[in-house]
Formats: sequence, structure tokens, C-alpha cells
Amino acid sequence: MAPAEAAPVAAANDAASRSVDDCRMLELPKIHDPRGNLTYIEGHQHVPFAIERVYYLYDVPGGSDRGGHAHKTLHQFIVAMSGSFDVVLDDGREKKRVHLSRSYNGLYLCPMIWRELDNFSSGSVCMVLASARYDEGDYFRDYAEFMRARWAKH
Ligand code: TYD
Repeated sequence: MAPAEAAPVAAANDAASRSVDDCRMLELPKIHDPRGNLTYIEGHQHVPFAIERVYYLYDVPGGSDRGGHAHKTLHQFIVAMSGSFDVVLDDGREKKRVHLSRSYNGLYLCPMIWRELDNFSSGSVCMVLASARYDEGDYFRDYAEFMRARWAKH
């Protein structure tokens, strides 16, 4: 998937019509420096939402899986800060596997997309920027329930 510019997100009420093609790689600013490169992220500027939360996965044993859920309204941006892993996107019709391995780009993930993370290299760190604070009520953790919600809105 080629990096693209950050663009405004569609209104929340059409979340169920979003597809894996609405999830895209975004390239971040990179300040080259012989002392070490620097990348920065500003809400609404480099990711298409206001950042309310940051969390990260680390000490992930090689070969383990994470994710296995969808969000009703949450927008997220996923960066491989170290190492690499895959994100498998599923909108109920189409699946797409995206490999993340660079800390100067990341994957924008819109609501109503089932995601799984796998193929973690050892020592990898996955940072996620999110548009809202943690809310268990925003999750679909059951795939059949997620599919029913998608088709109900079509
Ligand atoms: P979860 O999002 O279910 O991660 P995964 O699908 O990869 O297992 O989160 C795992 C646990 O961590 C779950 O019990 C909820 C908790 N959690 C928080 O308390 N705050 C957060 O911001 C996140 C992302 C998770």
C-alpha cells in the first residue's frame, strides 16, 4: 500500500459503509540527522483525527497474535516504532494484509474494520494513536456480531 497524505475523515454516521480501501498508509515528516532521524505527528495535520490516547504493544513474543476486534467509532493510526508486524484488515467483504516496518509511516484505520495483528518480529513495538479514550463499549469482539452490524446498516 503506497503512503498518502492525511485527509479529513468522513462523518461518523457512515462508518459501516467504510471499506479496507479507506484504511491507508500515511507518510510522516522525517528530519534526517546524522545524530539520529526524527519524526513527529500532529493531530489533524499528519493523522486525520484529534489524538486523545496513545498506547503501545511491546515485549510481544515472536509469532503471537493481537487485535481480533473492530471499533464502532474509533479512528486509529498504527506505527511500527521498532521491528515489524502485519495488520490484517477485514471489512466483511474484502481482506487486506499490510506490513508495517518503518517508524516514519503508519496505517490509518477507520471505524468498523475488523483487524488482527500478527507476524511480529521479536523486539517489535507497535504504537497506536487513537481518537478517543479507552471504552469497552466501542468494541466488537465477536466477529459474527460485527458482521451483523455491518449488514444491518446496508
Ligand atoms: P485490547 O484492545 O483488547 O487488545 P488486543 O485486542 O490486542 O488484545 O486490549 C487488551 C486489554 O487492555 C483489554 O483488557 C483492555 C485493556 N486496555 C486498556 O485498559 N486501555 C487501552 O487503552 C487499551 C488499548 C486496552
